[in-house]
Amino acid sequence: MSLKIGIIIASVREGRNGKVVADWVLENGQKRNDKDVTYELVDLKSFDLPLLGATPTESQGIALKNWSETMASYDGYILVTPEYNHLVPGALVNAFNFLNAEVNNKALAFVGYGFLGAARGIVGFRAHLAYQQIAMTQQQINISFVSDFKNAMTPEQEFAPGAWHTPELEALFTQLLGWSKALKALRNGEIK
Ligand SMILES: Cc1cc2nc3c(=O)[nH]c(=O)nc-3n(C[C@H](O)[C@H](O)[C@H](O)COP(=O)(O)O)c2cc1C
Repeated sequence: MSLKIGIIIASVREGRNGKVVADWVLENGQKRNDKDVTYELVDLKSFDLPLLGATPTESQGIALKNWSETMASYDGYILVTPEYNHLVPGALVNAFNFLNAEVNNKALAFVGYGFLGAARGIVGFRAHLAYQQIAMTQQQINISFVSDFKNAMTPEQEFAPGAWHTPELEALFTQLLGWSKALKALRNGEIK
């Protein structure tokens, strides 16, 4: 069974740190050489979504359709997210509020980054995503500005993830692929 995994970059901020973390996840996913598994980046910033409830402009209407189709095309997701004031980004919550069938009965794993690895934001967003019938893995990665970045929060900062994240990431991929596969069988009607 083939699987497509979308690695979502949740930050839409100029100069965001999220891209380098997402690239690291993608690189590690591709290195695994999982049979029939494709990993791709999904950059939230590339979708000009309206706020839920506002009338979309023509281009936002196209972006909404593109967002829906893009998310529907994946069997599982890795959400690379920061936290702002102990919550995941508002743009991310807004984007997920447009989704329903596209993500139902699919699996998702978290990679957070921040001073405490976005742990508080992730805890809260787990409740939101559970309501959207998304299965979330136990294993998550919490990337810390204190231990996983050199010269953090300066122009010279450099992403230098600790070696202890490697086995965590392996466990995350294993859990995510297992559930993505099982849930694809469920969606295909192979499991009643
Ligand atoms: C409005 C705002 C609120 C923030 N709140 C938190 C926070 O609650 N916890 C935290 O660890 N970092 C917080 N930060 C720092 C972010 O973790 C840091 O800016 C990070 O780089 C954001 O990810 P991004 O660069 O990919 O957007 C906050 C940053 C902003 C701009």
